[in-house]
Amino acid sequence: MKTTISQVHKFIDQQVTIGCWIANKRSSGKIAFLQLRDGTGFIQGVVVKAEVPEDVFVVSKSVTQESSVYVTGTVRADERSPFGYELQVTNVEVIHESVDYPITPKEHGTEFLMDHRHLWLRSKRQHAVMKIRNEVIRATYEFFNKEGFVKVDPPILTGSAPEGTTELFATKYFDEDAYLSQSGQLYMEAAAMALGKVFSFGPTFRAEKSKTRRHLIEFWMIEPEMAFYQFEDNLVVQEQYVSYIVQSVLNNCKLELNTLGRDVSKLENIKAPFPRISYDDAIKFLKEKGFDDIEWGDDFGAPHETAIAEAYDKPVFITHYPKTLKPFYMQPAPDRDDVVLCADMIAPEGYGEIIGGSERIHDAELLKENLEKHNLGMDAYKWYLQLRQYGSVPHSGFGLGLERTVAWISGVEHVRETIPFPRLLNRLYP
Ligand code: 4AD
Ligand code: MG
Repeated sequence: MKTTISQVHKFIDQQVTIGCWIANKRSSGKIAFLQLRDGTGFIQGVVVKAEVPEDVFVVSKSVTQESSVYVTGTVRADERSPFGYELQVTNVEVIHESVDYPITPKEHGTEFLMDHRHLWLRSKRQHAVMKIRNEVIRATYEFFNKEGFVKVDPPILTGSAPEGTTELFATKYFDEDAYLSQSGQLYMEAAAMALGKVFSFGPTFRAEKSKTRRHLIEFWMIEPEMAFYQFEDNLVVQEQYVSYIVQSVLNNCKLELNTLGRDVSKLENIKAPFPRISYDDAIKFLKEKGFDDIEWGDDFGAPHETAIAEAYDKPVFITHYPKTLKPFYMQPAPDRDDVVLCADMIAPEGYGEIIGGSERIHDAELLKENLEKHNLGMDAYKWYLQLRQYGSVPHSGFGLGLERTVAWISGVEHVRETIPFPRLLNRLYP
């Protein structure tokens, strides 16, 4: 019976054939242990010399790392392996012999691994991170569909700059100037006026010269936008959504979290509601913690965010930032003109900001004023202003960075391991 590693639990004590690769191998004179992978999972194949034809044992001992093979054997339940099953091998048929696979079981440097990303993806650890990424995406669609949101796809080639003009990837759109999208938000606002509650999931581009463990040049963002939702309503969606994806990963990726050595006790209590702290109080808190040089009006860096996050065992919302720190579209607080109705969600354990969101300005005059103040050309934003001219309503939304979220849930240090082919400052290969 031909099957996959993920399905072997259905064939206990039966014979199966699996198309797979040799991830690793260990052997002695009498027995060979083949670490097999087929994309759906990893399983150990045991070849006992006394129980197989001689040529099968010879092949098992000599087969090279990453050769592709058809392996036939009997599935055995095995309590000692984290996977729970083993294959008692009866035949190994080589499909293609791999010669000098560059990523050997020894330690390799990061740059070397990044240069071989197309192969590194095959490793057990990278496989686990990709499966968790997939689960976060799956749970995202499930959550928003359950909550009555409609998936909308904003354009990637755009004529406007929602998050400021310094980080844009410019390109030519025939004779016009165009940019790769740095956020679909403005289009999602239009979609919310048509469909009520919407969400997007797509690539975004930031020509940021940042070389940190949290920054990618190309990353994927989930951007929900809701008509008639105000500031606090928006936070409730965010905490429920993030709780939902964390619990989904805990339920559906046990093996992967185990492979990564993730301390799941830190994820188990990630359940709504999440704490909130105002920017004002965050500044006070940081001063008390000994950050003497931070002043009201300064943006937070990674050490500040980490210090604030450490005070809680759940993600924390930092709310009401100074308007000078935030984009043109954010609604001012009703009682104060110097702060806006926004919140950043900061993940625990030093992973930093995973969500940025806000209530949006719904007054046409105020929006116009802000566009002028930010020197944003009226022509490109004419359509966006029109959303405020024809039945404008309060509305809110947010953007969750997929890679930072996956890094946090997986417990991997750097976002470069959370996307199949990372685009980094100085890296466009492979
Ligand atoms: O805070 P940002 O810039 O917010 C927006 O773009 C809003 N327009 C979203 C919205 O309200 N619809 O980005 C949102 C999130 C951040 O919190 C972070 O998780 C992620 O996107 N992000 C990055 N992730 C990886 N690399 C980068 N260079 C990132 N920049 C932002
Ligand atoms: Mg932000």
